[in-house]
Amino acid sequence: MGINDSNIEKPTFIDLFCGAGGMSLGFEEAEFQGVCAVDFHPDPLKTYELNRANLKKKLLILNEDIRALKGDAILMRIAKRFKRKENIDVIIGGPPCQGFSLRGKRNKQDPRNNLLFEFFRLIEEIKPEIFVFENVPGLLMKKYNDTLNTIFKTITSLGYRYGFELLNSADYGVPQNRERFIIIGSKSCEKIYFPKIHQTRKSDILNFINRENQKYDVVPYVKRKVTAFEALDDIAYKNNEENPTLYSKTPNGPFQENFQWKKNRLYNHVTTRHSLTTRKRFSQFKQGHSMEDIPEDYRTKRSSVQRMYARKPTRTITSCNEDFIHYSLNRIITIREMARIQSYPDSYVFYGTPTTGGSRRRLSCCQVQQVGNSVPPLLAQAIAECVRKMLGLGSNNKLKNFIDILNNRDINNQINKRRVNLGNKDLQPFNN
Ligand SMILES: C[S@@+](CC[C@H](N)C(=O)[O-])C[C@H]1O[C@@H](n2cnc3c(N)ncnc32)[C@H](O)[C@@H]1O
Repeated sequence: MGINDSNIEKPTFIDLFCGAGGMSLGFEEAEFQGVCAVDFHPDPLKTYELNRANLKKKLLILNEDIRALKGDAILMRIAKRFKRKENIDVIIGGPPCQGFSLRGKRNKQDPRNNLLFEFFRLIEEIKPEIFVFENVPGLLMKKYNDTLNTIFKTITSLGYRYGFELLNSADYGVPQNRERFIIIGSKSCEKIYFPKIHQTRKSDILNFINRENQKYDVVPYVKRKVTAFEALDDIAYKNNEENPTLYSKTPNGPFQENFQWKKNRLYNHVTTRHSLTTRKRFSQFKQGHSMEDIPEDYRTKRSSVQRMYARKPTRTITSCNEDFIHYSLNRIITIREMARIQSYPDSYVFYGTPTTGGSRRRLSCCQVQQVGNSVPPLLAQAIAECVRKMLGLGSNNKLKNFIDILNNRDINNQINKRRVNLGNKDLQPFNN
């Protein structure tokens, strides 16, 4: 176990490709201590660092290209920084996944795909007790079977047992159906633990998951998924235009209670000022409608735009907030609303330019990209609880208690339903 934080010995982790820190945050909430985080882009790293200002003395943040980093160099720099040799319990990481994404071109030759193997090179060189590899479900597609088999062979050759699973973030309180492909590897555990899963997607690709060596009894799932309305209602309207960072409502329900923060200030919540034409177009979308569902005169070529449902979790958040129209207002969602949908608390602030477009997007990592690229912290926390179990450690039960509260919220929700019966008829007129 690693560095002492307020007299509690916590297990340590390194986050490779850390981005804005969604995955790290989940591990920190489950009482892990991050000792090193690496990313080659300065903007997500600024977000990572400034949200952990209190951990400065315990955390080494490397703004470097992982391809040029050697495992022993990382360990030496950690030892130098903390003036003692640290055992690394866990390495976590989600290498960039654009090559496998279910959206976009799915290019087998995408050079970014090689970064997957950079992750396993560092597992070989650092030899943590456990690793957690996160990626998009696209990696399970038939055309990537060779890549996947090479990954599994690599893991076995490094002396790790492994299990893998497709987890839906919505099962652990995230107001979003966002599936993630997770591999957990361990040097010494007989069984690999995963959180309980609600439903497995029926798919030929998943048939080859061998669940014999996998256990699913650490974290329960949410029986009724958190909806967009439950996640966003308290920040739909601003208090007043002069001070748009104030909350306009007290939290309503357990999700908002958990995610509002005490300071009564809302960052990253600037709404886009749409033209009248755009607002008229948005007003044609009923909940769940895509571009093809609205009258032809209003359509544009942007086929990925959709209005969210109020009473369902959202679809997978991407790094384009232009594609997500608010469930009841004629505007796209803000960065803070995206962050809520990813299960970031309101206290977590995003830095860098809010959005970038066109050719600059390839080089940038603006706030919208940082949020869209993240692993939802609640999903990461569910995985972290399983890793604790595999390390033989107890739990602070934070996540289990939260899920229990969510599972008891039906009675309260009936009251809400009566009070605010949101349907398509509640959509705001276009000039609002
Ligand atoms: C999918 S995001 C990671 C998200 C993160 N796990 C989270 O939960 O917030 C991938 C990150 O890898 C970083 N990255 C891409 N190539 C890299 C490289 N060669 N070296 C270091 N970081 C790299 C990107 O800047 C990006 O922030």
